[in-house]
Amino acid sequence: MSLRLAQSVRANPLLKKNTAQLFAARYYSSSEKTLKQRFAELIPEKVDQIKQLKKDYGSTVIGEVTLDQAYGGMRGIKGLVWEGSVLDPVEGIRFRGKTIPDIQKELPKAEGGEEPLPEALFWLLLTGEVPTVGQTRALSAELAARSSLPKHVEDIIDNSPSHLHPMAQFSMAVTALESESQFAKAYAAGVSKKDYWNYTYEDSIDLLAKLPNIAARIYQNVFKDGKLPAVNKDLDYGANLANLLGYGSNAEFVELMRLYLTIHSDHEGGNVSAHTTHLVGSALSSPFLSLAAGLNGLAGPLHGRANQEVLEWLETFKKAVGNDFSKETIEKYLWDTLNAGRVVPGYGHAVLRKTDPRYTAQREFALKHLPDFDMFKLVSAIYEVAPGVLTKHGKTKNPWPNVDSHSGVLLQYYGLTEASFYTVLFGVSRAFGVLPQLIIDRAVGAPIERPKSFSTEKYIELVKSLNSK
Ligand SMILES: CC(C)(COP(=O)(O)OP(=O)(O)OC[C@H]1O[C@@H](n2cnc3c(N)ncnc32)[C@H](O)[C@@H]1OP(=O)(O)O)[C@@H](O)C(=O)NCCC(=O)NCCS
Ligand SMILES: *[C@@H]1O[C@H](CO)[C@@H](O)[C@H](O)[C@H]1NC(C)=O
Ligand SMILES: *[C@@H]1O[C@H](CO)[C@@H](O)[C@H](O)[C@H]1NC(C)=O
Repeated sequence: MSLRLAQSVRANPLLKKNTAQLFAARYYSSSEKTLKQRFAELIPEKVDQIKQLKKDYGSTVIGEVTLDQAYGGMRGIKGLVWEGSVLDPVEGIRFRGKTIPDIQKELPKAEGGEEPLPEALFWLLLTGEVPTVGQTRALSAELAARSSLPKHVEDIIDNSPSHLHPMAQFSMAVTALESESQFAKAYAAGVSKKDYWNYTYEDSIDLLAKLPNIAARIYQNVFKDGKLPAVNKDLDYGANLANLLGYGSNAEFVELMRLYLTIHSDHEGGNVSAHTTHLVGSALSSPFLSLAAGLNGLAGPLHGRANQEVLEWLETFKKAVGNDFSKETIEKYLWDTLNAGRVVPGYGHAVLRKTDPRYTAQREFALKHLPDFDMFKLVSAIYEVAPGVLTKHGKTKNPWPNVDSHSGVLLQYYGLTEASFYTVLFGVSRAFGVLPQLIIDRAVGAPIERPKSFSTEKYIELVKSLNSK
């Protein structure tokens, strides 16, 4: 790894002036374990834990499945293993047991920053442990050092027409990184199963490292003049992403990126993007192909694209009513939306039954940095009214807001107003949640996934015979 770093420094004379600092950071942490070393140490424990659990309780019934569930999007069926996070319907997400306020307190920050660093969250999700500041700095440096894109990936983005949705461009670019896959090469060369995680790990770090360059290149091409600054090897991931997008000089936006990337990362394994990445990976497709599949799912309007829809919905609202954010006006607009047969975007959830703590974290950020922004006031005013209207409407099981109902407004405040780009940022963050599980899957030898399906005729036969007993 440090050899790779030295090579990239030698290849690029512009980097030389930062070398001393960079290596200072590396030496600072050289007495500490790297993420890969620490994860390697933890694998035998995890493998034993699972082996023992299966030996002792392998035949324990952990749930039952109704016909409604089979036809109802498999809601609530336990059948996936996901180590990074567990979602409680009332209190929301916990990352390795820690709530969002916990991680805001405990994870290392950038110097002078207050928000947690997403690279520290990646460490936590992969190992279950909070990294030290030195370990986090070393991981930031490693990600920056591995961030450059192969030419053919740049070309794919540059040759995409600007009317091709940013998520489609994003998924194509990630797919095209397959050419760089160490996992695919190692598999073709016949490496042993027990080494799969090693190459999955390397691909995952490469992939995470390259996402800011991919995302920002799409942004600059579609919405700006197509020019990109270079990744700064001394900055953390969120700061580099902000910089590449053209907002790096705004310290608040940099903080927003760190928070955004951290809280959008992971939401259990059953989520479309998480489940898809894990499923495709189970066929031993590389991390590039697996994440690209997950991103295609994230692009859907009931999933990640909801944050784009929320902003469009808010803007239409604002155009219609100006600054009249009265309870009556909002109530009427909500009913208009519902009566038109549409969902209220940013409200409702498959699992959550309370206000999403990711919403709350963003609301707190807004209260601190942009309390007087009119769109934030609108979001707040809707928060007062929508739960009541949705409850009266009586369909959704959860009338409370989710993460997407807040994120767009924060980006908009800082000038990132292009809503069709928002899901790309979500996708960058999602990689921090799904790649740790992919590495763990290969480390513990998770099998190819293959649940059983029946035709409707077969289900009729099955329920009749079960009911006659
Ligand atoms: C998130 C979501 C997809 C969860 O779906 P779900 O698990 O099926 O939710 P529920 O079980 O509560 O759905 C029951 C009914 O309420 C409706 N409903 C759910 N959320 C609703 C909302 N925000 N506005 C209006 N109706 C809603 C559903 O469409 C469904 O109606 P149907 O029976 O006519 O099909 C859904 O709440 C939704 O579409 N929300 C808006 C989009 C959004 O914010 N997505 C981002 C998710 S983070
Ligand atoms: C990972 O693989 C490389 C060779 O490709 C090897 O040098 C290295 O020791 C392996 N690391 C671990 C932790 O197994
Ligand atoms: C899936 O992921 C998104 C992003 O985290 C999240 O907002 C949503 O709660 C999840 N949706 C479901 C259906 O679990």
